[in-house]
Amino acid sequence: MDSQTKKFYLKIGVALLFIAFLLYKSAKSPGSIYAPDMAYSRAYETYADNNPRGTIMPVANTVSRNALPSEELYQKENSVIYSYNYSRFYKFNDTDKARAGVELKNPYQPTEAVLARAKVVYDKQCAICHGEKGMGDGKLIIREDGSDGAYKAVPPQYSDRLKGMKDGEIFHSITYGKNLMGPHRAHVKADDRWKLVCYIKELGGLNGAVATATTAVDSTKK
Ligand code: HEC
Repeated sequence: MDSQTKKFYLKIGVALLFIAFLLYKSAKSPGSIYAPDMAYSRAYETYADNNPRGTIMPVANTVSRNALPSEELYQKENSVIYSYNYSRFYKFNDTDKARAGVELKNPYQPTEAVLARAKVVYDKQCAICHGEKGMGDGKLIIREDGSDGAYKAVPPQYSDRLKGMKDGEIFHSITYGKNLMGPHRAHVKADDRWKLVCYIKELGGLNGAVATATTAVDSTKK
């Protein structure tokens, strides 16, 4: 090999070493980057401390599930406080149903306003089975043409069934359901369930002599 060729190979050797050096460096760091915005995302990481949109507080006036309403009645009345977290204090069984009957008082009286509100809820949620007047003849039970409806379990008349029941027990049954009647705690809020107790007792004629209340219900008769 002459010196010319030697030099040539030496040059190639040095060049290869240099390339190896460059490659070695780039394995440790990416070197210069053409479009840094794309290599390093500017998006905020969800839980990063510096993320102004990360773990943000709920919007002002957000009401969490089971939160008590702010009116004074709700903050004071044990019955209402329990009924907003009902399933924590009373389970779906007969012992707790009886206990609710003893421990919980209906925070509402069957006044005109209470019955008027309850009627709105009742006609939407209950009348389809129990019937508008609580006779167990809702449209799911008996069709308008008189034939048997889709629902086979005939609800009892309130006048019979509610006679021996305490308000808390009735509340319990509306909350959790009873046999073929489903639970209503998800679609009727707690204070409306108490108002329903007033209303269905009124339908069953079990509220005693509450003069204004009776007139209120009469005025809704068709
Ligand atoms: C899908 C039909 C259906 C709907 C809707 C329904 N019920 Fe009932 N309800 C029944 C049946 C059936 C029974 C009888 C259950 C049993 O004792 O076997 C019953 C029983 C009851 C009882 C007696 C519970 C007990 O412990 O003896 C009450 C009180 C009652 N319903 C209230 C309501 C109220 C208030 C609503 C509306 C929020 C409502 N129901 C919605 C079908 C229904």
